[in-house]
Amino acid sequence: MNGGDMRRAKLLALGLIIVGFGLGLGGTRATSSVPQKFQIRIPLGIPADLWEMMIPADNPMTEAKVALGRDLYFDKRLSVDNTVSCATCHDPRFAFTDGKPVSEGVGGKKGARNAPTVLNAMFNEEQFWDGRVKTLEEQVLQPLINPVEMAMPSHEAVVAKVRGIPEYAQRFREVFGGPNPVTIENIAKAIAAFERTLLSGDSPFDHFMAGDPKAISEAAKRGWELFKGKARCITCHEFNPSSPFFTNFKYHNIGIGMKATRNFEALARQIQQMAQENRLTKEALDRLALTEGFSELGRFLVTRQPKDVGAFKTSPLRDIELTAPYMHDGSLKTLREVIDFYDKGGEPNPNLDGGIVKLNLTEQEKADLEEFLKSLTSDWVRRVARGEIKLAAGPTSGNPTPTVARDSRSSRR
Ligand code: HEC
Ligand code: HEC
Repeated sequence: MNGGDMRRAKLLALGLIIVGFGLGLGGTRATSSVPQKFQIRIPLGIPADLWEMMIPADNPMTEAKVALGRDLYFDKRLSVDNTVSCATCHDPRFAFTDGKPVSEGVGGKKGARNAPTVLNAMFNEEQFWDGRVKTLEEQVLQPLINPVEMAMPSHEAVVAKVRGIPEYAQRFREVFGGPNPVTIENIAKAIAAFERTLLSGDSPFDHFMAGDPKAISEAAKRGWELFKGKARCITCHEFNPSSPFFTNFKYHNIGIGMKATRNFEALARQIQQMAQENRLTKEALDRLALTEGFSELGRFLVTRQPKDVGAFKTSPLRDIELTAPYMHDGSLKTLREVIDFYDKGGEPNPNLDGGIVKLNLTEQEKADLEEFLKSLTSDWVRRVARGEIKLAAGPTSGNPTPTVARDSRSSRR
């Protein structure tokens, strides 16, 4: 089953659940468990049903949880020396990236990879450039303790630090209840819930697709045709109304970082060796992914299949105008450089994806393609990046149209 099929199957299942739930409620009076409304504006272009479907059953959305997650996301005290927060590298001013080729954590320590945006990250089938974790909740656990990111010595240390901040202790009690609400799982749940309010849609392209022919320029329209046709972009950067993210969520080697001078065989052998000795823990993998050299093995780090050396997740393309520099190593500075890279057929190497070929685009076609990519910027994201909108928790995030009210059956988990 491919991603689209899976989503359709889940959508169908969701419909059945709603019907079943409705029937179940018919006979009973809502008493103690009055559903708590979580209001979110789902932007144009993003299916509201899909948003709902991607909320895990064990981490329902509530206003208080999202507000808590937001404050944790921006709190530098979650790092070892109080200098780095999630927002340092996923900064609203850069459409939730950091504007650097590779990220810098505590003490200016450099990782080996470019920070992807967290906008719409809730829709990713897997997280990170190599897909080494699945959910947003699991993802949060890594940067907190990676020595080149927030560098806390352990998850226990993170919990102890958060517990020591009185206002947090109180809010965790309110959100999660129980005798011991400050846990690493609950910290991750709150931050993940906040991330599920960071949605990008409502771009000029979305308005065009919704039937407004004037929403994008003639050049952008020609660019869209090229994207689907001669330039072949859509074969990997998939787009359809039920999965409108411009990615197939699969892994491809397009040649970025495949320097002939690097000994990939030797690096791969070291990884196989570590795996045999049971030393490839989640933590070890996270460190290797951000270590020069090993980083370039890409998807191989997860699958350990030789064909996956140098393969990385197809990037979503929304807000791409605001998230330079590009690619997993930040090696391409502008959209024009990206287009030129594809035009010449990527970087030749033994694992190059068969879908990457010379395109022979004209100057006009390159300009049109770039114009199309620039039509994918969310109005809300652009205004947040400019500082015109301050990020507030809950219902104020997301986008003005259309408004969808969602129920969350239980507020305590
Ligand atoms: C020092 C910079 C830095 C910090 C701090 C940081 N990140 Fe990241 N983040 C990155 C980089 C770099 C990647 C890509 C790493 C990789 O793919 O191996 C990433 C990947 C991600 C992804 C995966 C997105 C995708 O499209 O696959 C999410 C989600 C994310 N970070 C959220 C967070 C959250 C939440 C926090 C705070 C708990 C955080 N990050 C802290 C730099 C950072
Ligand atoms: C064979 C699959 C494939 C095709 C075809 C393809 N891409 Fe990509 N694209 C990828 C992958 C994989 C990445 C990430 C590669 C990496 O960082 O190593 C990527 C990355 C990008 C990025 C950078 C995103 C970021 O956030 O850094 C842009 C922009 C982009 N592609 C645009 C295009 C355009 C425009 C076309 C058509 C000319 C195209 N792609 C064709 C697979 C593909």
